[in-house]
Amino acid sequence: HGFMRVAVRRAARRGDRLAAFFHDPAIRADPYPFYDRVRAAGPVVRGQLMLATARHDVASAVLRSDAFGVGVSERRLPAGVALLFRLSRRTSPIGPVDPPSMLVVDPPDHTRYRRLVAKVFTARAIEGLRPRIEQTCDELLRDAPAELIADYAALLPVTVIADILGVPQEMRRQFLAWGAAAAPTLDIGLSFRTYRRTERGIKASNDWLRGHFARLRAQPGNDLLSRLVHLEGEQLGDDELLATAGLLLAAGFETTVNLLGSGAALLMRHPEQLELLRAEPQRWPGAVEEMLRYDSPVQSTARVCRRETEVGGVTVRPGQVVVPMLGGANRDPAVFADPATFDVTRANAREHLSFSGGVHYCLGAALARLEGEIGLRMLFERHPGLRTNGATKRRPTRVLRGYELLPVTT
Ligand code: HEM
Repeated sequence: HGFMRVAVRRAARRGDRLAAFFHDPAIRADPYPFYDRVRAAGPVVRGQLMLATARHDVASAVLRSDAFGVGVSERRLPAGVALLFRLSRRTSPIGPVDPPSMLVVDPPDHTRYRRLVAKVFTARAIEGLRPRIEQTCDELLRDAPAELIADYAALLPVTVIADILGVPQEMRRQFLAWGAAAAPTLDIGLSFRTYRRTERGIKASNDWLRGHFARLRAQPGNDLLSRLVHLEGEQLGDDELLATAGLLLAAGFETTVNLLGSGAALLMRHPEQLELLRAEPQRWPGAVEEMLRYDSPVQSTARVCRRETEVGGVTVRPGQVVVPMLGGANRDPAVFADPATFDVTRANAREHLSFSGGVHYCLGAALARLEGEIGLRMLFERHPGLRTNGATKRRPTRVLRGYELLPVTT
């Protein structure tokens, strides 16, 4: 991170047009005009550190191409940087976005990790959770929320994923706190202080998970983590278990909170669209797709070129990094007419790239969609007069986009 911070600053000073994406607070506050500029500059824009695209067709092609992989290949790093990399691996705790987390490993390892947990997250299996999610929303909405993120949007996803994984519910708030500390780990160019805080959050969560695995080894429950601990045949090593459990937990609650927060904020700002959903509740799933498109909870990802290939008419060489700007692809006028308009009846909203694409397509997409649909429908049913009440505040992260504070009154 230290290396990337220096590199991003230096590139920005040299007038790099992409570096601003990683440190300019104005772009963080509203990245959409920036994406429009990137898209206007070409299908693929070349910066000093990486290439990027805000076009839907190009982003989609990169995500689906097997010429690209995820994660840094140490073999391709200059010797000095590779040494630093290995040292930091030794001293840093393994987080949800470090190898061997499936998010940052290529097939065939990726295929193996994903297969171990995929069954629990299929659309069919997730639909079976509907009554349980409705009951959770019902309980969480008993008291009127005063600050929508802490009182509702953050609690629903962590409660549901803790249920699935078998993490005790009394740990929810603790995991939210560790998760908030660790969330900036997805961003590059962090300050040393923020970086240390992310490490502390990850370490505390890992320590708890290790103890939990030991308990499950002695006394398994009927939950996903118990099954992972007791796999027959293809047992997972300690690092693999930690990375998998950490990823499922963090992905389970760090992203859906943003869908719920941004979605609620959009509906409070567009009461006519909320009216439409009241009159035609069958439109809720489509409305959730439009929320995902309009303000993507995950704004960008990255792929590393593994063999020379061409994307958007540009040759990309092995080792080069391409950033598909998911939030930018979702506003591409070639795919979405009038892209800056929020329209819950938009017919092709589901073509958004908010869940990425290709082999790393979000494993939790069905769960996120169901939580979005039930969570928001029940929120506005229970509190029809819900409106913002005071200053809202965005999260300080760049890859993850959503609200940190959303004060409301009912
Ligand atoms: C992967 C978005 C909710 C689990 C991803 C990726 C994105 C994403 C963009 C792929 C990143 C890439 O291609 O580099 C979202 C959004 C969500 C959400 C926007 C909510 C609105 C969830 C939930 C879970 C989850 C609830 C719960 C299990 C995962 C996992 C991966 C993943 C395990 C890694 C998949 C792989 O590498 O094969 N998600 N996610 N996500 N997501 Fe989600």
